[in-house]
Amino acid sequence: MKEQKLRITLKSAPLSEWDEQYQLLYKEAVATTTKAYAPYSKFHVGAAVLLANNEIVSASNQENAAYPSGLCAERVALFYAGAKYPDVSVKAIAIAAETGGKLVEGISPCGGCRQVMLETETRAGTPMKIFLCGATSMRSVDSAAALLPVGFDGSDL
Ligand code: THU
Repeated sequence: MKEQKLRITLKSAPLSEWDEQYQLLYKEAVATTTKAYAPYSKFHVGAAVLLANNEIVSASNQENAAYPSGLCAERVALFYAGAKYPDVSVKAIAIAAETGGKLVEGISPCGGCRQVMLETETRAGTPMKIFLCGATSMRSVDSAAALLPVGFDGSDL
């Protein structure tokens, strides 16, 4: 039997230690939590997407009384970016969440969003950085594939 160990690198640092453009992305993700439509979970998520043309597109989670019809902030943002700028690749995404008046420390994207991030990255042909925003710090991985190892993509079809 062959055994493979898969490793990911998760970086973590206070906000001030990150590049200025990523601090800006953090601020946009945090500000966007206030625009969430989350009357059911009261879990307000903001996602800010940095495009290769240096534009930032942001979006929040959109819930629905028929629960599965809602969508996470990350997917709203990535689909919006893809719809508005179909030929521009995504360089990075920052994700923040607020509930009970506090920013969530351990925010991490759900499996469905990781799948969409992987597709976005594969489509662009360049790695997409993912920033997970805490109250005063950020964690990051350098690619969507790192968050979805052994993932399913178009090459499997
Ligand atoms: N949610 C997101 O928008 N992104 C995540 O990464 C985790 C979960 C949303 C979905 C739902 O509106 C609420 O947060 C609670 O799950």
